[in-house]
Amino acid sequence: MGSDNMYHPDSFPELKNPPRILLGPGPSMVHPRVLRAMASPLVGHLDPYFLEIMERTQDLLRMVFETQNRLTIPISGTGSASMEASLANLIEPGDEILICINGYFGLRLVDMAQRYGAEIHTIERPWGEIFTADEVRDALAQKSAKIVAIVHAETSTGALQPLGGISRVVHENGGLLLVDAVTSLGGIPVQVDEIGIDVCYSGSQKCLSCPPGLGPITLSPRAEQVLSERKSEVANWYLDLTMIQKYWGSERTYHHTAPISANFALYEGLRIIAEEGLEVRCERHRRNAEVLWQGMEDLGLELHVPLENRLPSLTTVRIPEGVNGAQIQNRLMMDYNIEIAGGLGELKGKVWRIGLMGHSSRLENVTLLLAALGEYLRS
Ligand SMILES: Cc1ncc(COP(=O)(O)O)c(C=O)c1O
Repeated sequence: MGSDNMYHPDSFPELKNPPRILLGPGPSMVHPRVLRAMASPLVGHLDPYFLEIMERTQDLLRMVFETQNRLTIPISGTGSASMEASLANLIEPGDEILICINGYFGLRLVDMAQRYGAEIHTIERPWGEIFTADEVRDALAQKSAKIVAIVHAETSTGALQPLGGISRVVHENGGLLLVDAVTSLGGIPVQVDEIGIDVCYSGSQKCLSCPPGLGPITLSPRAEQVLSERKSEVANWYLDLTMIQKYWGSERTYHHTAPISANFALYEGLRIIAEEGLEVRCERHRRNAEVLWQGMEDLGLELHVPLENRLPSLTTVRIPEGVNGAQIQNRLMMDYNIEIAGGLGELKGKVWRIGLMGHSSRLENVTLLLAALGEYLRS
């Protein structure tokens, strides 16, 4: 036991969160309506009212994933939880998986997949580049794979991976396409059904603009079939979709206590997307990103990813020679309450990462950031 003094209320002041403008790689800013939804009174996780919200949330998730997939739910946990759920449920020990690595999150897929006993094959591109369908075809000609895993929106590099051609190649070879859409869902079209993605996962805190804590996931009927025909138990109890789907499906069997408030927030965030319209929202993300890109170039800054592969939700800007990147980030936060991030992994110290996601993707934020950066760079 510490002294009484140690626990004096004055030692633990009330929260006074600074009003940050979140323009980093996530979390993004949260709409006041979503914050209100989070603060609404709790109900039980089997309350008929909550069950109704769960149903509607699944419908709204199908809207943003652009899918009819039955098994479409938010995993309780961040994007890494839905990422791990995707792998844990599809991989059986000894299964071959091809993982495309062109950034930090491709590497995380490898780290997770090997923990489930997968035989891993990889192909790599420099950070900031993308894969062609031919590269995946060549890799599958050398080694077979039950699953091909790829990141749609590489948050560490700012590259947007086209998926149509790769999906065709994966399916011609009888595989399942697993896609990380953490930084795209809700801001960039993911088009699960049209592209033919078999497993797609995301996170609540990026373009969906909710607090972190939920990881939407969707499985195609083929992926569901593979799941139902597993010979071994899913090697992760908490993320076992064969059990979780009994809570989200008609049985309503208890698995774990759903994070009620986080689900209320997601529901409200998805309602906002439905009101704006997914297409209009994606156009807004693109338009504001284009203003940012032009403004950066006008300041004489170089963008890391060529225009044709650039990700609207996350831009990587090369830190100019002689400029202290971390110092500029600190000044942005101190002077303007703006958060941007530095590089990750290979790009650490080389780029700034600027996120324009969900409620953060607004012209006034872009204009303020460009003005502030311009001021610093001129001095
Ligand atoms: C592409 C990508 N995948 C996975 C994750 C992991 O998500 P989380 O940090 O919510 O666990 C992130 C988070 O930044 C991401 O950007």
